[in-house]
Amino acid sequence: MSTTASLGGAFTLPKTSTSVQRMGYGAMQLAGHHVWGPPRDIDAAIAVLREAVDAGVNHIDTSDFYGPHITNQIIARALHPYPEGLVIVTKVGARRAPDRSWPHALSRQELIDAIHDNLRNLGLERLDVVNLRVGGFSSPTEASIEAPFTVLAELQREGLIHHLGVSNVSPTQLAEAQSIAEVVCVQNFYNIAHRTDDVLIDDLAGQGIAYVPFFPLGGFTRLQSAELDAAAASIGATPMQVALAWLLQRSPNILLIPGTSSLTHLRENLAAASLYLHPEILTSLDAIAAPNSSPTT
Ligand SMILES: NC(=O)c1ccc[n+]([C@@H]2O[C@H](COP(=O)([O-])OP(=O)(O)OC[C@H]3O[C@@H](n4cnc5c(N)ncnc54)[C@H](OP(=O)(O)O)[C@@H]3O)[C@@H](O)[C@H]2O)c1
Repeated sequence: MSTTASLGGAFTLPKTSTSVQRMGYGAMQLAGHHVWGPPRDIDAAIAVLREAVDAGVNHIDTSDFYGPHITNQIIARALHPYPEGLVIVTKVGARRAPDRSWPHALSRQELIDAIHDNLRNLGLERLDVVNLRVGGFSSPTEASIEAPFTVLAELQREGLIHHLGVSNVSPTQLAEAQSIAEVVCVQNFYNIAHRTDDVLIDDLAGQGIAYVPFFPLGGFTRLQSAELDAAAASIGATPMQVALAWLLQRSPNILLIPGTSSLTHLRENLAAASLYLHPEILTSLDAIAAPNSSPTT
């Protein structure tokens, strides 16, 4: 049976039997303002998660540092026992400080604690996919990730993690991780206006590795552009739907995790899975790319 989310097609993680719909869901917004919980309306957050899964979403992106803890607890409350085939992707490598900042948490003990926090709060015995998050929000740093990624590879061998990914990384850091363990996905900052990773996306597509852009709608500063508005008006869609459809058409290895705490926005975002952008529209949208980003060719 086709569902709203399945209209965007599916993707199988490399060298695994794990397949997800390309249209997924990012849970960060559920924590509340500044990603600091608890949210005002936990029942509303639960309703968003349940509707996403009912609509066919089987890829949810989260972290135990969203809230902190509360987002994973809400996921468990909404969906546990989890339906067959649901893939929950979490990330470690940061923590939340009392001032609500996001300092790194990459020491061996911090990583081990984070894995156990995720397991406990999600109600799982093994995490489906864990991303090691290393850089800042806007761009990667070039520090070696050998030590922290080796810790995650050990925890994978112990059976606590099924698959590994990396987040906020440079191509050099990705290669370093791949020399330690199989990497099934990369999660970096990318959207129609911020295309710094164009070359990396194509390289990962060649390797069959998923690329999961965070801030697909602009994140804390929502995408705004006259070109996006014009393209949306010309096909009777919304600008956010065009931004998501553009990502789906950009490369078959791109998986979407748009974040929302609103049922209306969730429905709007899921409907983008069936939107097709004609070549002339794609060309008009290249004008949105920021000056330091390369437009698609
Ligand atoms: N690896 C990392 O370092 C990292 C960093 C950031 C995020 N992430 C992951 O990426 C996911 C996506 O990122 P994100 O949630 O920060 O940013 P996003 O998906 O680009 O945008 C979310 C923002 O857009 C709004 N929104 C969503 N759908 C909308 C629509 N149809 N129309 C208008 N506004 C809409 C949301 O508000 P409403 O709630 O009001 O809809 C929210 O303010 C997160 O959930 C998280 O899982 C990872």
